[in-house]
Amino acid sequence: MTERTLFIIKPNVTEKHRIGEVIAAIEAKGFRIVDMKMERWDEVRAGGFYEVHRGKPFYGALVEFMTSGPVVPIVLEAENCVEALRNAIGATDPAKAEEGTVRKRFGDSLTRNAVHASDSPENAKKEIAYVFGG
Ligand code: CMP
Repeated sequence: MTERTLFIIKPNVTEKHRIGEVIAAIEAKGFRIVDMKMERWDEVRAGGFYEVHRGKPFYGALVEFMTSGPVVPIVLEAENCVEALRNAIGATDPAKAEEGTVRKRFGDSLTRNAVHASDSPENAKKEIAYVFGG
């Protein structure tokens, strides 16, 4: 089934000027870009996005990182898009991600892990609405 998901390129990639490489890797795997923008998040915006993680030990570092530079949110479309993208980006911790995955190639640490992808079709809808509106 054709599905959409939210993909976010994080500040450790934008600061290294490697946005194009990440997008090329994703397009090469067959994901189609249907919407995209570059913006800077403040604490309220980043905190709202990661609301489910509020109170966890890594929450402060996560929000600090996500507000440290521009992010590039992208709506992607493909067959079975949510699961396929999770597989393409690899494990949350780049050190544990498989060879060839986006986080293995572009991640620096568990916090600075290069990209975000929605973890379920329900969350994809919610996250697309939160970031792109409507
Ligand atoms: P992301 O997929 O954007 O979702 C939540 C983020 O929290 C995750 O990527 C990581 O960057 C970050 N994070 C930091 N520490 C942890 C942890 N121990 N478990 C899960 N996520 C973590």
